[in-house]
Amino acid sequence: MNNLCMTAIAAAFSVALMAQQTELKGDAAKGKQYFNAYTCYGCHGFSAQNGPGRNRLNPMKMSQSGFIGLVRTPTINQMPSYSAKVISDQQLADVWAYLKTLPDAPAAKDIPLLQQIKAEAAK
Ligand code: HEC
Repeated sequence: MNNLCMTAIAAAFSVALMAQQTELKGDAAKGKQYFNAYTCYGCHGFSAQNGPGRNRLNPMKMSQSGFIGLVRTPTINQMPSYSAKVISDQQLADVWAYLKTLPDAPAAKDIPLLQQIKAEAAK
């Protein structure tokens, strides 16, 4: 088994362990401030919809503990890790609560301009 695989298993295991802890109460208004102050928006976008794959944090489908765990120990090295000295669990619970309040992107069929462009292109 290679190192990457072992790391992935270790990460999955620690996330699973953390999932058993109780949830912190998140404050979305504070979370918005932290999302900006800690420059999460710089890579994830103000909508949290930037990028493909797991760079996209909206819609937020991770559990709170899973989210905190991945910010502490990202599985991908493009995502900087943030220790508890930098941003506390409570602060990340606030960020998570904030991400949960963000509206999801509309479906393609619900974007009038896109439909208009498609109609024009089909002519
Ligand atoms: C320097 C750019 C950068 C900054 C700043 C950044 N992220 Fe990320 N983050 C990324 C990238 C890139 C990915 C995912 C890459 C991929 O999936 O290929 C990611 C992934 C994640 C993931 C999923 C990690 C995983 O392993 O699945 C979480 C959760 C996350 N970011 C939260 C945050 C939060 C919260 C902040 C602010 C405290 C933040 N990020 C700041 C670049 C950044």
